Amino acid sequence: MLYWRKIGGRCMEPLTAQMTTPALVGGQIPNIRPRRLRRSAALRRLVRETELSASRFVYPLFVTHGEGIQREVPSMPGIFQWSVDKLGQEIEEVVSLNIPAVLLFGLPETKDEAGSEAYNDAGIVQRAIRRIKALAPDLLVVTDVCFCEYTSHGHCGIIRNGDVDNDATLGLLARTAVSHAAAGADIVAPSDMMDGRVGAIRRALDEHGYAQTSIMAYSAKYASSFYGPFREAAECAPQFGDRRSYQMDPSNRREALREALLDVAEGADILMVKPALPYLDIIRDIRESLNLPLAAYNVSGEYSMIKAASRNGWLDERLATLEALHAIRRAGADIIISYHAKEAARWLAE
Ligand code: PBG
Repeated sequence: MLYWRKIGGRCMEPLTAQMTTPALVGGQIPNIRPRRLRRSAALRRLVRETELSASRFVYPLFVTHGEGIQREVPSMPGIFQWSVDKLGQEIEEVVSLNIPAVLLFGLPETKDEAGSEAYNDAGIVQRAIRRIKALAPDLLVVTDVCFCEYTSHGHCGIIRNGDVDNDATLGLLARTAVSHAAAGADIVAPSDMMDGRVGAIRRALDEHGYAQTSIMAYSAKYASSFYGPFREAAECAPQFGDRRSYQMDPSNRREALREALLDVAEGADILMVKPALPYLDIIRDIRESLNLPLAAYNVSGEYSMIKAASRNGWLDERLATLEALHAIRRAGADIIISYHAKEAARWLAE
């Protein structure tokens, strides 16, 4: 039996039958004191319900054509576009911080209607994978599988009659995933939101001898304004229209579960919700309904908001970032993809 009691005329606190001792019901000095366990840092650490550690992080990397390039993304302070030859320093840092995985995005030299650089075996991502595997064989390499960085029109698939053609895109996505696996990718992560892509990619990987390559599916990827800074970083803003005919409507909750269930049925190994902070309810829903590992993408806009506010002296960057990352874990994510991963790993090690 649960009783509710008004305290000080402001908040309502639940009281179990066992707690309703005469002293408490009488509104006198409480004999139950939650504050006892908050008294010291050691006590708070002992009873903490959610752990955050670098082992949970995936660090996104933007790899660009050319040589000798380390170009900061204006809307994402601290995040750079790297040419393949310059990746060493970044990879060494990620490994030394105990971050187990990187997520690669490629900026190709040329773009065309069909996004053909995406499945070029000597393409930018394929070369970056080989280089990273040579530098750090144990670091997991996850690759974003999508066309928006490779197509001249900036959409995530092939355009037919002014719209993204789902089924014409599937074969090319599968071809891209196989090409990433052949270069040594451990996990491919389709982010295009075409129907049936996880199944198409799974079949193609298996047929080409990559049965051990995992799929991390961007299952519930919303058509979000929080991708703004990323589109500058990856140079992939759509040249006409928007992505609302394939990415999810931010108003929808049940649909996210339906998308996730489809990805499970099609053979996904890891599910993902994206963005993270405005969609904590979706992370919780999927965590409670399904038992696959769950990733959350703490996207570019979430990063840039904290960066901008802290540069203005409006937020404490360290506290705000760790609070946000804890919240994503608390909602139910096992894995967090974050541009803050390196800094957070450093803060957590202090
Ligand atoms: C590619 C892709 C996007 C992001 C990850 N993969 C952009 C988009 O869909 O427009 C966004 C990541 C971020 O904002 O950090 N489709």
